[in-house]
Amino acid sequence: MGDVISLSVNIAGINLKNPVMVASGTFGYGEEYVPYVDLNIISAIVVKGLSITPREGNPPPRIVETSAGMLNSIGLQNIGIDSFINEKLPFLKKYNTKVIANFFGDSIDEYCEVVKRVDSVDGIHGLEMNISCPNKQEGWLEFGTNPDLTFRVVSAVRKHTKLPLIVKLSPNVTDVTIIAKAAADAGADAISLINTLSGMAIDIKTRKPKLANIVGGLSGPSIKPVALRMVWQVAKSVKLPIIGIGGIMTYEDALEFMIAGASAVQVGTANFIDPNVSEKIIHGIESYCEQNGINDINKIVGSVII
Ligand code: SIN
Repeated sequence: MGDVISLSVNIAGINLKNPVMVASGTFGYGEEYVPYVDLNIISAIVVKGLSITPREGNPPPRIVETSAGMLNSIGLQNIGIDSFINEKLPFLKKYNTKVIANFFGDSIDEYCEVVKRVDSVDGIHGLEMNISCPNKQEGWLEFGTNPDLTFRVVSAVRKHTKLPLIVKLSPNVTDVTIIAKAAADAGADAISLINTLSGMAIDIKTRKPKLANIVGGLSGPSIKPVALRMVWQVAKSVKLPIIGIGGIMTYEDALEFMIAGASAVQVGTANFIDPNVSEKIIHGIESYCEQNGINDINKIVGSVII
């Protein structure tokens, strides 16, 4: 028998049994995936983004398949923070997986209100703050594309929680490192990136946009090289743990992100193709470690040779 391999990682005080989480918006509130996946295997479930009140989201159609990816314009549909706490969290607490509450608001006050409600709730291990949704109506504050707004909203939220605070960044910016630094200066404990890339698809028969919202967020393997580049840049720029997201389909993809500087990864769009893909990715990472004489996964983090 070979040496025992440690896959556990620590993100801002959240102890994860392995570096593979599932991304917000691709795994519902966990319960939906129980017929297909053993939730105990996944290190953390990042639940669909929560707001202070329930939201219906954008009108359909709001999903379009693209070459090597998909566009979504869900529009932040969710059941609201109180229903999550009362109806979904008790179920999730039965599993040996960490629960990370992804959340957002239309204003700084709303972000703070959500956080005040979850801060002392048993069973929530961390918060992921979405400042990066591309599917908002015009006129909404785009916190994640402006460093001053990023600083203001993250600082405000920071005052209301002692839970580990992960800030999820948008790729729809000129220099993602400036936004990452603003989030770090404001008290973020970790950075996750990237959210989806703003995109569009047109039906050539009707000449109409395929999404009712006209534009949506692109995810899937087509965005992986962009995400990897941004993870690498941010890992060099801030001294916070990084969670890599963007088109991770295989264990090789996950390892690329970790070698670029991510301490953990989130699997997103791949869940729609294979609900059990996370388990395969975890086993693949373990085999890679075994074959390459790596006894601790943390040793590969940021090990890219330039
Ligand atoms: C959505 O619900 O529109 C997607 C959320 C996001 O991309 O942040």
